[in-house]
This record gives sequence, C-alpha cells and structure tokens, in this order.
Amino acid sequence: MPNLPATYVTTTLKDGVVSLGAHAFPQDALGADTVVIRPDHLGICRADVKEILGSRDVMEDRGPLFGHELVGPVAFAGAGTGFEEGDLVTLNPNITSTRTTGFAEYVLVHGTKEQLDQAVVRVPEPRLRGGVWMPEPFACIVHALGKLLELTGLPSLRGRRVGIIGAGCAGLMFAMYARHLGASVAVFNRGEPRRAFAQQQGILAEGEIHPLTDAAAQAHRGGFDIVIVAPTVATAELLETAAGLATDGAVLFVYGGTRKGDTFPVGGADIDALRRQERIESVTYGGKRIDVSGAYGCLREDYEEGFRLHARHPRDFPLERLASRRITLDEFPRRVMELATGEADFPGKVLITLTPGDRGGAPPRP
Ligand SMILES: NC(=O)c1ccc[n+]([C@@H]2O[C@H](COP(=O)([O-])OP(=O)(O)OC[C@H]3O[C@@H](n4cnc5c(N)ncnc54)[C@H](OP(=O)(O)O)[C@@H]3O)[C@@H](O)[C@H]2O)c1
Repeated sequence: MPNLPATYVTTTLKDGVVSLGAHAFPQDALGADTVVIRPDHLGICRADVKEILGSRDVMEDRGPLFGHELVGPVAFAGAGTGFEEGDLVTLNPNITSTRTTGFAEYVLVHGTKEQLDQAVVRVPEPRLRGGVWMPEPFACIVHALGKLLELTGLPSLRGRRVGIIGAGCAGLMFAMYARHLGASVAVFNRGEPRRAFAQQQGILAEGEIHPLTDAAAQAHRGGFDIVIVAPTVATAELLETAAGLATDGAVLFVYGGTRKGDTFPVGGADIDALRRQERIESVTYGGKRIDVSGAYGCLREDYEEGFRLHARHPRDFPLERLASRRITLDEFPRRVMELATGEADFPGKVLITLTPGDRGGAPPRP
C-alpha cells in the first residue's frame, strides 16, 4: 500500500466537541470502490459550525457535512473508481454519505463509479493550490443562480436589481456572479466587520454594501427585482425584511439556513421544502406578489462551470480574496470551537493548510 501511512490525524465531532487525534489508517476500508484524498487545503463552512451546535438538519442521503470543503491529490484510487493516484480533486458532499470527515490528513470516499464521478471532481486549475479558493461553496452559488434563472424563466439578470441579505462568503459570491450576469447588486449585512472586509478586499464597491438596519431597509424599500436571503439562519424577521426590499412581482430566493417546518409568511409557503426541492411558489405579503424560491447543493457540472468562470473572468470572480485567515490542522479544533461558541468570528473564509512547512497566518494580500 504505497504512500499511505500506518496512522493518520483526523478530527472527531462528538457531543458538540471537536478533537484531533492520530488513528490507525483504515486499511481494510480500501477497496475497488474507494478514493482516498489527501487534502492540502480545507475550508471551514458555516454548516460545519452549525453541525457542532446541532442546529442543522442533516440530510440522510448525503450525511453530515462536517469537513466537506477541500482540495488535494488522490492518494489512493480503487480499480473501479475511474481515478488515478495524483489526480488533483475536490469533493462534492451532496452525492453520497459514505465518506469520512474532510478535517483530516486523509479522506476516504466510497461509491459506485457513477457516484464517484459526481462526488470527486477533478480540479483543472493546478494554480488553485497557490491562490487558494474553495470550489464547493462557489459551485453551490453557480448552481443556485442557474436554478433561479431556470425557475423564473428569466433569460439573464441583465438590468435586474438584486438585493442580497448577508455579506458572508455566500452573499459575496452571489454578488460576484449576479454582477457578472449583468445585475446591479446591493448587499445588506448586520455587522460592520464583514461590510468592511468586502470593501477592503475590493469585492464590493462602497455603494454596493449597506448596513442591515431599519433605516437602510426603508431607504431601499421595494427596490429589488430579486432578493437573495443568504445569512446563517433565514429567520422570520430577515425574511420579512427581504420581502420589504422586494418590489411587487419580485423573487425572494432563500439560500441561507432553513429548517424543517419553516414558513414564509408565517403559516404560508414551506420555505425549507421549496429550498431543498428547488421549487417556486407565489405568496402575497404586504400587498405584493412575491415568488418564493430557493436552491440546495450542487452538481459536478456546477463545479466545472465555476472553474470555467474563474479561469475566464478572474476579475469578476476574485474568489481568492475571500480567504481571511490560514490556520493549521492542529489549530483547527480550538478555532472552530471558538466560532461555535461565538468567542470569535472571522469574515470571509478560514482556510486550513496542510502543506508541510506552512505554519498558518494571514494569506498574502491580492
Ligand atoms: N443552499 C445551499 O446550497 C447552501 C450551500 C452552502 C451554504 N448554505 C448556507 O448559507 C448560509 C451562509 O453561509 P456563509 O458561508 O455565507 O456563512 P458566513 O460566511 O459565516 O456568513 C454568515 C452571514 O450570516 C449573517 N448573519 C448571521 N446571523 C445573522 C442574524 N441573526 N441576522 C442577520 N445576519 C446574520 C452574518 O452577518 P454578520 O456579519 O452580521 O454576523 C454573515 O453575513 C449558511 O447558513 C449555509 O448553511 C446554503
């Protein structure tokens, strides 16, 4: 078994606590249906934090997401997988639940050839390992805006006014892509640090970012054809704010956290089902007709489109600038527990670098 060690370091999430330890490498688990990835970069997603807190509904068909943003080479490819050792790949966690956590030196993914073809996605940009960005969250945004166009029958976003609630990683990538598709964008964020980060990194211009206050919501009332809701939790209050920003006949697109039973307006459309099943439904709110819709997850094609967009339009998609901090795997349990308890919060994307010799710290400024 060349290149695979007798032991490896991996994380365990148990009873809301994350720990790191050395474990025997599961050699018995290496079969013809197995791909082993050795991540050299990992991303922390808000969904990881929610799973620590137990505040996320885990879908049985795809399992927990804890540790799903990663890029690295294939370290072992079973004979029936269609992959080869050394292929640079990333993971699509929406396909199969038979995989180990990504927050580890090695990640094992099992599946049929067809499942692995969707779940393990080749990375066509070797340079991605230098200026790192995470393909999975961008693929979800590519998928979501594609689904929005499909569900609404809009040919493009040209000339559309798009309001976005949340300047987290998702909100900022929505802004990049909606702008690329011809829309004007306005992002509303509660806290100042993410508003400042978006501007400092050159991702949003001054007029594109606003505080999420009653005054701002009032000033922009009815001003958007599409309002995307992309915060950690799509609370009833945030959905009402979003509906206030929407013009009559607008689309309210729910992307950020919903849970089973969530509705909008209260007792109205089942927004969790609309999001997960990617449907659209008209509701009436405040005398306006609003088409409520959403999207969930992504497919291999969305990764491929994401790579194409980034390669062809690097100015439109400065995805590397989302990285705000790099840490090591050793630091990960402490840092992620700080995020979960609210002791710390970092704008942008926190990356874990496993490349030997990298000691973490801030990434280079673009
Ligand atoms: N549909 C899908 O396929 C899909 C895929 C990936 C992720 N997601 C979901 O997208 C959401 C956002 O992810 P992310 O990566 O952007 O997270 P993130 O980078 O951690 O950003 C979280 C955002 O939520 C805002 N927020 C949190 N609590 C808030 C509140 N009570 N009121 C107003 N704003 C609040 C934060 O604002 P502050 O700066 O004020 O804290 C920040 O803008 C997550 O829930 C994630 O699960 C959905």
